[in-house]
Amino acid sequence: MSENKVDIAAKLAGQPKLIPYGGYYSTVIPKHEPLLTETGPETPLGEYMRHFWHPVCMSEELTDTPRFIEIMSEELVAFRDHSGNVGVLHAHCCHRGASLEYGLVKEKGIMCCYHGWTWDVDGRCLEVPSAKGEEAEGEQLAARVWQPAYKAFERNGLVFAYMGPPEKEPPFPEWEDDFTLMDGDELVPYSNRDDANWLQVQDNSADQYHHIPLHTTAVVPGHEQSTTFGEAGAAPYLVRPDLQFFPVDDGRGMAWTASRRIDEGKIFIRVNQQVLPNISCHSYLFEDGSKRKLFSRLHMIRWTVPVNDTACKMIGWRMVGAGIDPRGLDVALRHLIGFETMDFLDGQVSRRRPELQRYWDNRTEKTPFMQPQPDHRARECYKEAQWAPGDYEATVSQRPIAVHALENPMKADGGVFLFRKLLRDAITGDNPQASPAAWKTWLEENPGPNLYCQGNILMIKEGATLAEEVERRRDAARKVISTTAESNSLKGAERVQFVKDKYAELEKSYS
Ligand code: FES
Ligand SMILES: [Fe+2]
Repeated sequence: MSENKVDIAAKLAGQPKLIPYGGYYSTVIPKHEPLLTETGPETPLGEYMRHFWHPVCMSEELTDTPRFIEIMSEELVAFRDHSGNVGVLHAHCCHRGASLEYGLVKEKGIMCCYHGWTWDVDGRCLEVPSAKGEEAEGEQLAARVWQPAYKAFERNGLVFAYMGPPEKEPPFPEWEDDFTLMDGDELVPYSNRDDANWLQVQDNSADQYHHIPLHTTAVVPGHEQSTTFGEAGAAPYLVRPDLQFFPVDDGRGMAWTASRRIDEGKIFIRVNQQVLPNISCHSYLFEDGSKRKLFSRLHMIRWTVPVNDTACKMIGWRMVGAGIDPRGLDVALRHLIGFETMDFLDGQVSRRRPELQRYWDNRTEKTPFMQPQPDHRARECYKEAQWAPGDYEATVSQRPIAVHALENPMKADGGVFLFRKLLRDAITGDNPQASPAAWKTWLEENPGPNLYCQGNILMIKEGATLAEEVERRRDAARKVISTTAESNSLKGAERVQFVKDKYAELEKSYS
């Protein structure tokens, strides 16, 4: 029997797979890539990630009872004591291991439910209850025992924690100084869980080609993609983009351009960005392409935070307001941005929401990816997900941890692979500029670093031939990136003006 098994393995290993009906020869599934996917405390990526600030939950999750959370395979408890201080402590009380999720939140700190030891937010022991006459033992213990703790603070509805060595704590990166430069906008927090390895979800944000097949309800019977999807006449964000990818900030991140022709006079150049180790920045999602637009800024920033190796959460902010969204689409749906909900796309989170579907169905200006659908609401959720899958279904179904060795990438996957390379180089030390120490220095010297993320509708005429048009949209996109890089020595309004002036010159250069 065992001999037979060895023979089968050898046979599978040596056979060509690219043959008709060759499934038999592809039944041995290679292992996932642990260097980029595993984030437990004793892993290289886990060690790297712990040197950065991460959002670990939403402020609204901190109530009168403690909140159990898992981050990078560590069991933690988050709470806000009655003095307003936020604590993120190891869940298991270091007296005898009861979970602090059952503790009592106090004026100062949290009291373990089991024997009443009380811990401050920094892990200091505030009290060890003792019998009368034995107080000395309690006081001695309290002086020397610490509950493992992480520094944490709240910012615009999110709780951030630093889980690395205290002596190496970097400044919290105030990207673009305040994360939003558009007048009238505000940061609206959200947290959406995904039951897949964190990298699949991070990959998803660099994968711009999936928007059309995945987000057009393409598999709903009777509502297949129209022939205009991906072509002229579709909403601008649903035209297949011409993509280019650029390492930025000395390999600490990546920006990518998505160029799309709107009409013979206008081109849409969207720039998104990913920052090591787990940030993604998105410019305005629902561009209608109707008006010239220069250097529109962030619409969303998110951290893909590993829960463990087979689950993660996307936590971040949406920028909501008239600055980024003059048509007011987000303002109307703002109540849907939050804990386990998002205002765009069913299937963005695991819970599907009839409320969102009704809203889109009733809109006069229907978005193409939400065409009226058959009344399938009464059917079970799985069937619904099969009819209209979203990012959740796509990422979860890539296996709990995707197997990179089985992938067959195309040019449009370039961002996924570039970001993985940047991350790999940062972890292995092949890019010293992205080491935790270099990051810390860079942030200390460059507080509130600028972002590349932006949306532009440029008045650039269509090329006379397809070849000329392709070269034109790529060249314009490269100039958008080089101009933005050039602007990085400037800040705020001065930078915005510099970029806008340069883009006006760029437009003229094609006239
Ligand atoms: S286990 Fe927490 S006080 Fe004893
Ligand atoms: Fe998506």
